[in-house]
Parts: sequence; C-alpha cells; structure tokens
Amino acid sequence: PEPSDPQLDQEEEQWDLLFTDARLATMVSNGRPYGAEEGMALAVKDGTIAWLGPASALPHHNAERLVPLEGRWMTPGLIDCHTHLVYGGNRAAEFELRLTGATYQEIARAGGGIAATVTATRAASEDELLEAARPRLETLLREGVTVVEIKSGYGLNLEQEAKMLRVARRLAADYPVTIRTSFLGAHAVAPEYGQDRAGYLDAVIAMLPSIAANGLADAVDAFCEGIAFTPDETARLFAAARDLGLPVKLHADQLSDLGGAALAARFGALSADHLEYTNAEGVAAMAAAGTVAVLLPGAFYVLRETQLPPVEAFRRQGVPMALATDCNPGSAPLTSPLLTMNLACTLFRLTPEEALAGFTRNAALALGLGASHGTLEVGKAADLAVWDIERPGELAYRLGFNPLAYALQAGKQRQL
Ligand code: NIG
Ligand code: FE
Repeated sequence: PEPSDPQLDQEEEQWDLLFTDARLATMVSNGRPYGAEEGMALAVKDGTIAWLGPASALPHHNAERLVPLEGRWMTPGLIDCHTHLVYGGNRAAEFELRLTGATYQEIARAGGGIAATVTATRAASEDELLEAARPRLETLLREGVTVVEIKSGYGLNLEQEAKMLRVARRLAADYPVTIRTSFLGAHAVAPEYGQDRAGYLDAVIAMLPSIAANGLADAVDAFCEGIAFTPDETARLFAAARDLGLPVKLHADQLSDLGGAALAARFGALSADHLEYTNAEGVAAMAAAGTVAVLLPGAFYVLRETQLPPVEAFRRQGVPMALATDCNPGSAPLTSPLLTMNLACTLFRLTPEEALAGFTRNAALALGLGASHGTLEVGKAADLAVWDIERPGELAYRLGFNPLAYALQAGKQRQL
C-alpha cells in the first residue's frame, strides 16, 4: 500500500475564531506567575476553548475569523461572585450620615440600612428594578466581567424575593453574561415580623420549595451576624436548603466573630464571605471542607473597618481566596472589579496575582463553576478578556482606569 500523506490524513480542525500572537494569563499553575504563556494561539469553537498552545504547534486548521492580538494579554473573563446588584433606590443619605459619625449598625438598628432598601425595592415594579440594575451590570461588563452572581434579600417575602430573582434571570437573557442567583431571604427580618426573628426564619424556610421549584436560585445565602441571624437560625435554614439539594454560602464574621466560617464549612458551603473576624478554627474548617474565602475589600473600605481578614492563615492552609465587589447600596456601592483588586492588594496585602485569581479561578470555585469557568483551558467556556497592558500586575495597580480592549462571553464578542 502507498504510504499515506500526513497532511491529508490529519483532520482539519474547524474553528470559529483563532487568536494569535497572544500573551495568556491562563491562571493554571505551570510554575510561572499567572500561569503565563507567551507567543500563544487560542482557538474557539461553539463557545468553548477548542485549542491553545504555541503558534508553532498549531494543528492543520480552518478558522472562520483570525484575530492577531499583537502581544496583548488575554485573561479569563472576570467573575464577580458576590453582588446585590438588583435593588431599588440608593442610600447616599446614609453615606452622609456615616460621615457625621453614625455607624452602619446604628443606622440599621434605627430602621435604615437594609430595611430602607427593602422599602424601595418593594415599591419598584419588576421592570423598574430591571432598568435600575442595567447601568450597574453594564459597568461590570465594561471591565471584562463575564459571570456575575446576584442575590435577592431586599424583598423579604416570597413574592418580592421572587421578583428580584426574576430580574436577575432577565438580565441574563438581555446581556452576554452568565448570571448565578442566590436566594438571600435571610438577609434581615422582614418589617412585618418586628422582633420575631424565629417566626420570619420559618417563613424564609417555607419560601425555599417554591424558589427551588421555579428554578430561581442556584444557591442559598444568609447573613449570620448580630444585626441579622444567629448561627442556630442559619443552621436551620442551611439544613432545609440541603434537603432541597441547594448549595449554600454565607455572609460570615463580617462585623463580629460568631463562628460563621466554621458553620458554613460544616454545611459544605461553596463559600464563606467577608470573614474579617474569622478565627483560626474557622480557617481550618474551611480548608478541610474546601469552602472558598470570598473577600470583600469594598465593604471593608466603606465601613472603615480595621479588623483585617486572616489572609496569611488562608494562604498557609490553602483556602482559595476569591474577591468580589459586593455591589450593594449600603456597604459597597461599588461596580469596579479592577478597583476591588487594587483595594485587596493595598488594604489586605494580596499580591496582584492573588487578586486576579480572586476574580477568575477562585471566583469560579465560589460559584461551583470550577469545571467550566475561571481559567484558560481547553474545554472551558470561551469567556475571555483582552487587555491593553504590558504586565498582568497592571490590572490591580491603577485606580479608576480601565485597560480592557474587549471581552467575549461564550466566544461572542461584546459591544457595549
Ligand atoms: O454584603 N452584609 C450584609 N449584606 C450586604 C450589605 C447589604 C446592605 O447594606 O444593603 C453586604 O455587605
Ligand atoms: Fe453581601
């Protein structure tokens, strides 16, 4: 038989898009900071990364579109894994009050804070809530965000919580972005319940089956704190979530040490968030359970907190650290992941590499999306951000400057 021609034998790869001359921050550990690779090509097919490697190793291919990146850096699309992006009104007046000396807790106890946003959110129609959320989401997208987590928690009854979560789902339909929702009915006690926390918590637990049956929540969240719910109440909610097969996450140890991190870990939580007051047992429990630490330096900054989260202990024990904006009208009116990265480096002493991992690989883990998002790897979603920078550390370095060239979600380039 004739020796076969290797060129004809080799199947031609069919790609939708091929980037060449790229510098990749893959965020996969390869012994180099950022999992960096230079002189690379990356191919996209059907919304996923189909191939990546040095240009010299490109297989026989046919790409519908060729995009030379001229040495630009590409990172995974950014993932904002903790936001309260959907809400009515704003709390600028409380900002002014805090500047005259009132604390976040005092304002909350006086009926402001979360309760004020509950009033404004209930008063807004579903369409009005959607319109109010648009500019905040668009601001995130313009900084290269491709996945956003959005919580409820300003409705505090079934109808109003469901309204918030439907708005989050509608945003996913309207924009080239992946949205994950969290049901945060246990954010504050609904005003109708007065001091009856346990009664309201029963009501929240009773909302769960309907929220789950309507596919409105990808996870269940709670606020475990002196001004919110006790650890026992939180555990009761988490047990009910577990019975419905819903993953949990927790606002834990933000203002005081209630053992929230250990509680979250005990329920195998995807993440425990805030964590300024988390103690050593909490860190160890998170490490053992694989619970991600979501750090929120925007809320730390706005509240002028001085207690630092136990970053060095998370490092030592190998707890993955994610970062998020915590975008909300009270403690973090923040819609910039890049500024959040700078705050994390400056205030928490994260390295710029840890900060980028916090908005990519580890944020994906915090949402249970580690298999499909967060790194540049074959088979993962083609959620990609292209930056006009010389080195990846620039992403965390500036304050208020956005070097994004463009981003793609599931292989589709976004115009915003
Ligand atoms: O993550 N900690 C509780 N929830 C939000 C704040 C919500 C609000 O003040 O409206 C947070 O900081
Ligand atoms: Fe929050």
